[in-house]
Amino acid sequence: MRLPESQVAVLNAASATDERTIAQLAEATDLKPETVTGAVFDLRDDGLVTVTETVEEDVELTDEGVEYADDGLPEIRLYRAAMDVGGGDAVQMGQVIGASSLGGPQVDIALSNFARKGYGHIDSGELVPDADADPDADGEAAALSALAAGETVDTDVLDQLESRKLVVRHERTIRAVTLTDEGVTALMEGVETAETVDRLTPEMLTSGEWEDVEFTEYNVEADAPEVRGGKKHILRQTADRVKDVLVGMGFSEMEGPHADADFWINDCLFMPQDHPARTHWDRFALDVPPMEDIPEDLIDRVRSSHLNGVGDDGDGYHSPWSEDFARAVALRGHTTSLSMRYLSGHEVGELEPPQRYFSVEKVYRNDTLDPTHLLEFYQIEGWVMAEDLSVRDLMGTFEEFYSHFGITDIQFKPHYNPYTEPSFELFGRHPETNELIEIGNSGMFREEVLRPLGVECDVMAWGLALERLLMLMYGFDDIRDVHGTLCDLDLLRETEVLR
Ligand code: PHE
Repeated sequence: MRLPESQVAVLNAASATDERTIAQLAEATDLKPETVTGAVFDLRDDGLVTVTETVEEDVELTDEGVEYADDGLPEIRLYRAAMDVGGGDAVQMGQVIGASSLGGPQVDIALSNFARKGYGHIDSGELVPDADADPDADGEAAALSALAAGETVDTDVLDQLESRKLVVRHERTIRAVTLTDEGVTALMEGVETAETVDRLTPEMLTSGEWEDVEFTEYNVEADAPEVRGGKKHILRQTADRVKDVLVGMGFSEMEGPHADADFWINDCLFMPQDHPARTHWDRFALDVPPMEDIPEDLIDRVRSSHLNGVGDDGDGYHSPWSEDFARAVALRGHTTSLSMRYLSGHEVGELEPPQRYFSVEKVYRNDTLDPTHLLEFYQIEGWVMAEDLSVRDLMGTFEEFYSHFGITDIQFKPHYNPYTEPSFELFGRHPETNELIEIGNSGMFREEVLRPLGVECDVMAWGLALERLLMLMYGFDDIRDVHGTLCDLDLLRETEVLR
């Protein structure tokens, strides 16, 4: 039998009676572990060896863990200091902290673990140690020293140390190799090294040597070390895919300012100036000069729409309308400001129906951060301008759009927006929790919005949340898994957005 050099080496180093790990084989053959792994898989495929896999856990102390293993846990240092200073009686907090020589964040760490672990309690500025507590019997301290000495410890304490970020755990697959009967027979019959070539060179081509050489086979299924290079964030990948889908559906992309005049963000949308969402609570106001570049005739028509409504039997809000208020600049709370800019003709000139536009852009809201809300998120804005549009067109567009992402059970709920009539909220079912989550808001723009913009036909429009689409696609349930300091790195590394 003829085999490539590395396989011959591994075969000779393996045993039929003792399992040998990849590390042992690498040492015995003087080959790199990845080369041995590759050879082992090939030998296994040929039936010459068997491979068993076990997963082992490596536990490593973090810098903080090493520090506590050396100096003692902060809560124990605090307890000992309290006992030294007060002999078991209540002691002034400042005094104990001084005596413990704990500094910075360690004080908080000491205090929170002190009470949790029954070393005593805190009572109006005084630390009251429990004289019966025994720091020498502290399981976490014992586990830290054991780990520092290279010993193993119980998973319960390990969980606790991990939650305190004193240890990190890594899983490792250990592969062990044994010769099969076939392998033994092959060795007895003699295995020769095949001279194989792993790459084609220009010289081989010119000399014609390529015709005679034997090429190394590639094993594309062999395990390889994981390479963690930079990659595009899954939210960005999804945004790109959304853009492709919408372009495929005949839409063009809008762009425009993140910080915009309230005029474009709210007034054009027939949002009354005293609407609760326009107060300082929801919006991020900016301390910059008011926006100058707004067409005067458009301002007049929007003002009139607010004061008198549109058409003969129209009606307005009967409340004051201030141009200064409209020119004030804030971070946009939705990208419908872009739709207003485009529909008014301000961006690309007057638009004749039919037209379709979209944007996938960031919006900013002064919300409270929670699992489904961020202070900024991506909105998938869009609108279709045409003669005689109906709610069926709107629903059909969403069904088509979401079906590109495998989402086929969209639900619609009647809603209210000052700028659309009728209006619908969109819901989708979360694949893991099975809850209905809101994924967007939509409707047909009202006359009071369209006439001042100079649009005579129908316009249906929407704002969908990109993050929510991502939740439905990948099943994570906390938006902070993909954004910010708490993000789930494994999710970000492993998720591939299919194009
Ligand atoms: N601006 C709305 C929002 O942010 C979305 C929307 C856009 C609704 C256009 C209707 C029409 O929720």
